[in-house]
Amino acid sequence: MTITLQQGSYIIAGLAFILALAGLSKHETAKRGNIYGIVGMAIALLFTILGTVLTTSSAAGDIPAAPGWTIPVLIIAMLIGAVIGITLALRVQMTGMPELIALLHSFVGLTAVLVGWNSYLEVTDHSDKVHSVELFIGVFIGAVTFTGSIIAYLKLSAKMKSAPLMLPFHNWINLGALVVFVGLTVWFAITPNLILLAIMTVIALALGLHLVASIGGGDMPVVVSMLNSYSGWAAAAAGFTLDNDLLIITGSLVGSSGAYLSYIMCKAMNRSFISVIAGGFGSDGAVVGEAKDYGDYHETNAADVATLLTNASSVIITPGYGMAVAQAQGPVADLTSKLRAKGVEVRFGIHPVAGRLPGHMNVLLAEAKVPYDIVLEMDEINDDFPNTDVVLVIGANDTVNPAALDDPSSPIAGMPVLEVWKAGTVVVFKRSMNTGYAGVQNPLFFNDNTLMLFGDAKERVEDIIRAL
Ligand code: TAP
Repeated sequence: MTITLQQGSYIIAGLAFILALAGLSKHETAKRGNIYGIVGMAIALLFTILGTVLTTSSAAGDIPAAPGWTIPVLIIAMLIGAVIGITLALRVQMTGMPELIALLHSFVGLTAVLVGWNSYLEVTDHSDKVHSVELFIGVFIGAVTFTGSIIAYLKLSAKMKSAPLMLPFHNWINLGALVVFVGLTVWFAITPNLILLAIMTVIALALGLHLVASIGGGDMPVVVSMLNSYSGWAAAAAGFTLDNDLLIITGSLVGSSGAYLSYIMCKAMNRSFISVIAGGFGSDGAVVGEAKDYGDYHETNAADVATLLTNASSVIITPGYGMAVAQAQGPVADLTSKLRAKGVEVRFGIHPVAGRLPGHMNVLLAEAKVPYDIVLEMDEINDDFPNTDVVLVIGANDTVNPAALDDPSSPIAGMPVLEVWKAGTVVVFKRSMNTGYAGVQNPLFFNDNTLMLFGDAKERVEDIIRAL
C-alpha cells in the first residue's frame, strides 16, 4: 500500500471525526454523530493495519517494512483490547461512566509516555532538535494526563475523598513544576539525554497527581473534560513523535473540543477556567461538609404528593444524580405523560452539571422517551420557578442548593443553581438527609415550602403513579 492511499483514508477518517463531533452537539443528531465516529475509527484502524500487513508481506511499498512479528502481536493486542473494551462497555452502569472515562484517559496518557520513551530509546541520532522538543512535550503531557486521570478515577469512584488537597504553597508547587519543565525542555533540546527525560517524567507524574488532587468535588466535572482535553493533546504529541497525521488530527480534535467543553462548563459553574486548569489556583480551600443547624424538615408521602400534583397546573421536574442511581427515568417519564394527559403542564429543568457527566440527565430522559421540547436548560427555565405550582427534585442536591448563591463561604459558592425554592411547593426525593457530591448540607430541605419524600426515587415515583 502506498502512503498516498493511507493518507487519503486518514483524511476521510478525520472528516468522519469532525462530523461525529458536530453530530454529538445536539440530542437529535447524537446517534448519527456516534455512527460517524465508529465509521471514522473503523477506517483509521483498517488502513493502519492494511498498511502494515501489505508492507510486511510485499516489503515493496513506500512505508518501511515492519518486522515479521508485528501482525501477530497487533492481532493479539487488538483481541485483548476488544475483549476488555466490550466487557467494560456491557458492564458499566450509566453512573459509572465518568470514572470509566477518567480511567480510559489515563491509558491515553500512559501510551503517550511509552511512545515518547520508545522513540527516544529506538533512535541513536538525537540531533533533530524539533523532534526532541516534540518528544519531551509529548511525554510531559502524557505523564500529567496519566496520574491526573488516575486521581480523577479514584475521586469519581469515591475510592478517594473528593475534598481538595491543600498543601502549603500548592499554587507555587504547580508553577514551580511548570518552570522546571520549561527549563528542562530547553536543556533537552540542546543535549538530549536519558536522565533529563527521566527527571521530567517523574516531575510530570507528580504534577498530574497534585493538579487533580487540589481540585474540590464540585469542580470535578470540569476536571473530567480538562483531562479529556489533555488526553487529546497527549495523543497529538504522540502523533508528532510517530509522524502519524491521523493521530495529530484526532488528538487535536479531542484536545480542542475538550478545552472548549471545559470552558463552557467553567462558565456554567461560574468558575475561572485558568483557576481550574491550574489545579484550583486561587482557591482558598473552603471547608467541605461544615455542619450547620438549619432546623426541622417536613416529611411527606406518595399519596399526598399525588394529590398535590393532581391539583397543580404547572410542574417542573429537576432531576439529579439520584435519578440515575435509582434508574428512575422510566417511571419519571410515565408520571410525566400521566400528568400531561390530565392537562398539567410538565417541564424539566436541567442543570449543566447534574449527574456525573455532561448531558447525563438528557441522555437518561431521551432513553425514557421524554419529548425533547419539554426538557429545558437551567438558563431557559430559571425565571419560571416563581410561576410554578410544584417542583419535583428527583435525586438532585448540589444543583438546587441555595447556599451556592447565599453563602460565600460554601465550597459551591458562586455556582449558578436551579432556583427551585421560588416555586409554590418543592418535593425532594432522596433516601436520607445526606449531603450531595460536594459534601455540603442543603438549606432547601428545611424551607417551609419544601416536603421531603424519603426512599428510593424509582419506588417513590411508582408509588405516586399508583396513587394518581
Ligand atoms: P448530587 O449533589 O450528587 O446529589 C445526589 C442526591 O441523590 C444525593 O443527595 C442522594 O441523597 C440522592 N440519591 C442517591 N441515590 C438515590 C436514590 N436511589 N433515590 C433517591 N435519591 C438518591 O446530585 P446533583 O444535584 O445532580 O449534582 C451533581 C454533583 O456532581 C455536582 O456537585 C457536580 O459538580 C458533581 N459532578 C458532576 C459531574 C458532571 S459532568 N455532571 C461530574 C462529576 C461531579 P441520599 O443519599 O440521601 O439518597
